[in-house]
Amino acid sequence: MDPDPQHTELDWFRAAVPYVAAHRDRTMVIAMAGEAARAPEFPALLRDIAQLRALGTRVVLVHGARPQIEARLRDRGLTPRYSRGLRVTDAEALEAVCDAVGRLRLHIEGLLSRNLGSPGIAGARLRVASGNFVTARPLGVRDGVDFQYTGEVRRVDAPGITRLLDEGQIVLVSPLGYSPTGEVFNLSGEDVATQVAAGLKADKLVFLTEAGPLRDRHAETLTQLTVPAVERLLATEAGLPEELAGHLRSAVEVCAVHDLRVHLVDRHIDGGLLIELFSRSGIGTLVSREPVERLRAATIDDVGGIFELIQPLESEGILVRRTREHLELEIDCFQVLDADGLIIGTAALYTFPETQVAEIACLALHPDYRGGGRGDQILEHMEGLAQRRGHRQVFVLTTRTAQWFQERGYHPGNIDDLPAARQALYSQARNSRIFVKRLA
Ligand SMILES: CC(C)(COP(=O)(O)OP(=O)(O)OC[C@H]1O[C@@H](n2cnc3c(N)ncnc32)[C@H](O)[C@@H]1OP(=O)(O)O)[C@@H](O)C(=O)NCCC(=O)NCCS
Repeated sequence: MDPDPQHTELDWFRAAVPYVAAHRDRTMVIAMAGEAARAPEFPALLRDIAQLRALGTRVVLVHGARPQIEARLRDRGLTPRYSRGLRVTDAEALEAVCDAVGRLRLHIEGLLSRNLGSPGIAGARLRVASGNFVTARPLGVRDGVDFQYTGEVRRVDAPGITRLLDEGQIVLVSPLGYSPTGEVFNLSGEDVATQVAAGLKADKLVFLTEAGPLRDRHAETLTQLTVPAVERLLATEAGLPEELAGHLRSAVEVCAVHDLRVHLVDRHIDGGLLIELFSRSGIGTLVSREPVERLRAATIDDVGGIFELIQPLESEGILVRRTREHLELEIDCFQVLDADGLIIGTAALYTFPETQVAEIACLALHPDYRGGGRGDQILEHMEGLAQRRGHRQVFVLTTRTAQWFQERGYHPGNIDDLPAARQALYSQARNSRIFVKRLA
């Protein structure tokens, strides 16, 4: 281990930079329980959230208020009533709810204002906005219990929230909703966060958990789960804490209507949110419809990601230099391995008219992701692509990776194996070795 703490910080910073780009202009709904607001670390958590906004992420913060409401009820000598895990809110309880939620909202706004205004964040341009974004309807009578002023989300004013996010504001949403007739309803923060994420078509929904991380039977944190895996877990795992089970059910629900990433992050870990979002391994659980890595055709929006990935390899002389303009012009030739919005691998397929030969070039994987078979995955994908486009043979030019290609069925070739157009571009100074493979 490097004993120099400065170096460790530098490594951390370098590793985080691609994630900053990946999260910029993305919409993130962050849900936290009321318990978080009572913890001594709460100002630090809000500071992290403000940092996220300062880095260009569009942030919606949804808060719960259960312990604050309980405290207000106790102050008034009222006993909290629950049915099916949901509060029964009569008129007296509603006053306590409004009181608790109102105070908490002001507290959060105050702390965020302090953070947003501090010179270390982003100056006075950042603001926090809250309002009547959620239309609610009463839960009504269930199993004979009248929930009175307990409601559920009927509609989210997504365009209204979007306008505020466009202005760069952090949007704060409380667990209250309003009916078109002006009544106020107490809502579950979980329901609000899920519906807001779905309504906004957010890129991420992050639950800051009170019950710690989601662990498997060996007490290891479950880092990634697809929706079918979550459904299996919910069906078979009886001992799941109810809070985590609720978040997982919400994840399944929201993924069914919109393809986003849901994260469960232990709120008690200092900086857990930032570690989850800005490091490769993360710290919590990521739920997605499909496995998070996918190989796909590159688009013009990937130019920056590809450029960052291949630039260090160009500096080392492993890959041929390509400018951003060059990449833009050739972007249709590129495929990328996309890990949750981060470009971790790439390769290009160049074809030559009137030949049945194609070149696989610019094969590169981010150093953190090497050695896990992804190189093979990309290469096979490129060969398959060449084959589907009618090519019989592919070739690669390499200065340092000869062995790797040979182990994958490539044979040494010479310049005559290249199409005439490619021969003309062959750089004698670079003196790359040529390897060819016939496609089955
Ligand atoms: C080449 C590359 C894409 C392979 O990706 P990867 O996911 O690490 O590959 P895999 O997991 O499929 O294979 C890893 C194996 O290849 C070996 N390997 C990696 N780079 C190699 C190289 N340059 N020469 C020989 N073997 C190499 C590893 O040592 C490992 O071997 P092991 O399984 O015996 O430990 C990746 O290492 C990379 O991006 N390298 C830098 C760019 C480059 O060289 N591109 C080719 C330009 S033509």
